[in-house]
Amino acid sequence: MSRSLENMTALVTGASSGIGRATASVLARSKARVVLIGRRQSVLEKLAMECGSLASAYPCDMTDDAQLEELAKKIQADFARIDALIHSSGIIKLGRTETAPVADFDAQYVTNVRGPYILTQLLLRSLRAASGQIVFVNSSITRASKTDGRGTYAATQQAMRSIANALRDEVNEAGVRVTTIFPGTTATQRQVDLHEISGKRYDPDRMLQPEDVAEAVLFALTIGRTAEITDLYLRPMLKPLD
Ligand SMILES: NC(=O)c1ccc[n+]([C@@H]2O[C@H](COP(=O)([O-])OP(=O)(O)OC[C@H]3O[C@@H](n4cnc5c(N)ncnc54)[C@H](OP(=O)(O)O)[C@@H]3O)[C@@H](O)[C@H]2O)c1
Repeated sequence: MSRSLENMTALVTGASSGIGRATASVLARSKARVVLIGRRQSVLEKLAMECGSLASAYPCDMTDDAQLEELAKKIQADFARIDALIHSSGIIKLGRTETAPVADFDAQYVTNVRGPYILTQLLLRSLRAASGQIVFVNSSITRASKTDGRGTYAATQQAMRSIANALRDEVNEAGVRVTTIFPGTTATQRQVDLHEISGKRYDPDRMLQPEDVAEAVLFALTIGRTAEITDLYLRPMLKPLD
């Protein structure tokens, strides 16, 4: 199995932070042309410099339909082919069903479900032409029995899981692979923020590292074309201490 992504163009959403950032770096080291997507232009540009001459920044707000359309047009004009679309953007809002503002539910739906769905739709023709691959970074919360104030977030992740499964049925025959990766707790800015809110001790050594998830993405992209990684669950080796 070759791990080189030479001549491949890979789009990574959420590239300005955490898992998306690590994934962009790992793919760039494997020689892919990486297209870095997120809202914070200066952060993306700095990362593009670090990733080398084959990386470029494409700022876009995933909640804005017009920006998504513009992004897809630009990418299709700037790159001859699109081989991989890796979705790693997203937000989380905590709250109990009885009291959480509906606006928090809407914000998560628009960012975590609607935006990735629209971008996938817009790029599907190019992905088909390249016999490409779509990777959704989802969450192991989809199989948790206890969601601890993350019920609406979990609902958005369940939605994305269903969308990925439906999409796979539609595009496999055209040679397009669809992969969902379900990480457990990962040491990113999101967890720093969540630990601050809950008052729990932040212990990154007992979490997955963003690079672990990035390596899983690379594995899914480079496994031989007679196979498709459909669902990949990752969890930290060590349980959090109370
Ligand atoms: N960390 C965990 O424990 C964990 C566990 C399981 C699954 N996940 C999943 O992994 C993915 C990445 O999480 P992470 O921990 O790496 O999060 P993170 O560090 O908070 O990064 C989130 C990324 O999403 C982007 N983003 C947020 N809203 C956006 C918008 N409206 N438009 C465009 N980009 C937007 C952010 O970029 P800008 O701010 O620049 O826009 C940022 O790059 C998420 O889908 C998350 O659900 C995380």
